[in-house]
Amino acid sequence: ALVSMRQLLDHAAEHGYGIPAFNVNNLEQVQAIMEAAAQTDSPVIMQASAGARKYAGEGFLKYLIQAAVESYPHIPVVMHQDHGQSPDVCRGAIELGFSSVMMDGSLMADGKTIASYEYNLDVTRQVVAMAHKLGITVEGELGCLGSLETMKGDKEDGHGAEGTMTREQLLTDPEQAADFVKQSQLDALAIAVGTSHGAYKFTRKPTGDILSVQRIKEIHARLPNTHLVMHGSSSVPQELLAEIRQFGGDMKETYGVPVEELQEAIKFGVRKVNIDTDIRLAMTGAIRRFLAENPSKFDPREYLKPAREAAKKVCLARYEQFGAAGHA
Ligand code: G3H
Ligand code: 13P
Ligand code: NA
Ligand code: ZN
Repeated sequence: ALVSMRQLLDHAAEHGYGIPAFNVNNLEQVQAIMEAAAQTDSPVIMQASAGARKYAGEGFLKYLIQAAVESYPHIPVVMHQDHGQSPDVCRGAIELGFSSVMMDGSLMADGKTIASYEYNLDVTRQVVAMAHKLGITVEGELGCLGSLETMKGDKEDGHGAEGTMTREQLLTDPEQAADFVKQSQLDALAIAVGTSHGAYKFTRKPTGDILSVQRIKEIHARLPNTHLVMHGSSSVPQELLAEIRQFGGDMKETYGVPVEELQEAIKFGVRKVNIDTDIRLAMTGAIRRFLAENPSKFDPREYLKPAREAAKKVCLARYEQFGAAGHA
C-alpha cells in the first residue's frame, strides 16, 4: 500500500534501522526495487527528482509507482518527491499523488545559489503547512552538500551550490538544526556531513576529516527524536567501476560512502539513506558487459534484463545492510 514516509521512519527509529531511498526514472528501476523489497520483506521509499519527472513524464512516473503498489500489496511504499526546489514543485508533487515531499530550501529555486536560513525556514514552513493537512510527510534540508576536500558543491548532477563554500556551510550546525526542526515542524531533516551527489564524492577512501560521522552524532545528541536523512550516500563500489572500465567506459578514480559508515550513521538517527548513483553504475556496467559480449543482439529486453538484475543486487544488499529487511 502507498503509505506516508513518516509512518515508515517512525517504525525504523523505533527498531533502529535505516531505509534506503532509491531514485527512480524508469520501469526497470521500479521493478528492481520492488523485487528486492519483496525478496527481503523490506519497506520501500521510491523517490523521483524533478529530472525524473521530466524524463519519464509525470503520468508515467505516477502510474509506474502505482503499478508497483498494486503488484506488491503487502509491501508499504512511499512515493517521495526528491529535492523539491520550491513550494510550487512540492504542491505539484502532492497533486500528482506523492505521499512525501522534500522541500530543499538549502539552495534558492535556481538550484545553485545558497539560501539564507530565513528563506529556508520560510519555504519549509510553507510546505509543512500545505502537506501536513493532507497527511503528507515533509523532508527539509539544512546545510549544503559538497566536498570537504575541494570546498565545492556537487555540480555533477546539477544540484550543488556554485562557488567555494566554507566548512560551516558544508556541515550542518546542531544548534541551528534544533531551531530549524522546532520552527518548521518538518518530519525528516537532511543534513550535510561531507557527502555529495554523483560518482565523484571523495578522491580517497573517506576518513573523519572529509566525511563527518562525528557531526551526525552531535546532531543526533541535540535532536534525538528527529529522523535524519543522508543524501549523496551511494557507496560507489570499486567492482562496479571496474566493470564499466573493463567494457569501455571512462570512470576516473573515485570513492563513495563506505557501507560501514552508513551503518554507523544509522546507529545515530539516520533513517533515510538516499541512493541513486550505485544503481546507475550497476545498470551501466551490466549493459556495457552484455553489449560487448553479445555484439549481434539488439533487443532492448535482452540488455535491460541484466541491467535490472544488477540494480536489484544493489537494492538487496542495502536492504540487508541497513537492517530494513524483515520490516515490511
Ligand atoms: O539528487 C540527486 C539524484 O541523484 C537525482 O538526480 O536530478 O539527475 O535525477 P537527477
Ligand atoms: P547518490 O548520488 O550518492 O546516489 O545520492 C543520491 C541522492 O542523494 C538523491 O537525492
Ligand atoms: Na530527498
Ligand atoms: Zn539528494
